[in-house]
Amino acid sequence: MKHIVTAKAPVNIALIKYWGKEDEAKVIPYTGSLSLSVSELYTVTTIKHSSHGFSFTLNGKKASKADALKIKKFLSHFAQEHELEDISVISENTGPTASGAASSASGFAALAKAANTFFETNFENEILASITRLGSGSACRSLFGGLVVWEKTGEVYTIREDGFDFIMVFALLTHQRKSISSKQAMKNTVSTSPYYEAWVSKTTQDLIAMKHAIHVEDLRTIGELTQSSALAMHASMLSATPPTLFLTHHSLEIIHGIMDLQRHGEFAYPTMDAGMHVKILTNAQSLPKVLETLDAFKVKDIIVTHPEKGAHILYEE
Ligand code: DP6
Repeated sequence: MKHIVTAKAPVNIALIKYWGKEDEAKVIPYTGSLSLSVSELYTVTTIKHSSHGFSFTLNGKKASKADALKIKKFLSHFAQEHELEDISVISENTGPTASGAASSASGFAALAKAANTFFETNFENEILASITRLGSGSACRSLFGGLVVWEKTGEVYTIREDGFDFIMVFALLTHQRKSISSKQAMKNTVSTSPYYEAWVSKTTQDLIAMKHAIHVEDLRTIGELTQSSALAMHASMLSATPPTLFLTHHSLEIIHGIMDLQRHGEFAYPTMDAGMHVKILTNAQSLPKVLETLDAFKVKDIIVTHPEKGAHILYEE
């Protein structure tokens, strides 16, 4: 066991969404997905010895017993029960937690990366990814950089390291915690949406089309598939019982504004996850128009992000 290890992992935003588990316990998704790891939003996690029992501190605050237990349970994939007794886990997120800015993905990726070094398990990528996704499915994609594929089979890999120098703009519309977890909303969709089967077949085809578009560098198609995957995912949630409605007046207004930019030839495509924030896939050339549009819709909290490498160790001793 090491004395102290610090790891950093990026947030990732799915262009082809993961929405539904075929196996809840092992976190096997119904479909593969594809994401972009981004630079300006991330988690830095330190694991170290302490003499005060197990503790988990998130953004400077000692976490609740339930949250600490969740982290301890996750770490049991790397260590024996008694080895976890005197351990401190300290995590810092940039950006809001649990409101759709995907901090659980960077959180579990940073934790897994740090734990793999701290407890000297040295699992290879495939095993590490299969453990990481038990924390949160999308987290396994944050282990890798650029454009990342998470196959239904469990394989996770970078398909395009530079991410075409895309820019992902986060339009953050609230700092409130969301009312329903993505886990719960996803489960409801799988079990009750009459559109779920259609979602699975569309996503399977979209992922193939997306890989091809990446291969031939067809950026427009990448944008169109990104927008379509997000809207179809929200359609599946809307048709669930009870319905999950993350779309708000404000988010729809922004989506319309961004679609207008497309009609004027700009490269700008909206996406949304399990929260009300809107993210816009764009490039350096179209960025000023995107920012102008967000300004017109009075979005105050904007984060401009760029492709980033995957989870890595910052410090070990
Ligand atoms: C909408 O990875 O948070 O962001 O596996 O239940 O923890 P769990 O779900 P999570 O779901 C992410 C869903 C999404 C789409 C995506 O990132 O692919």
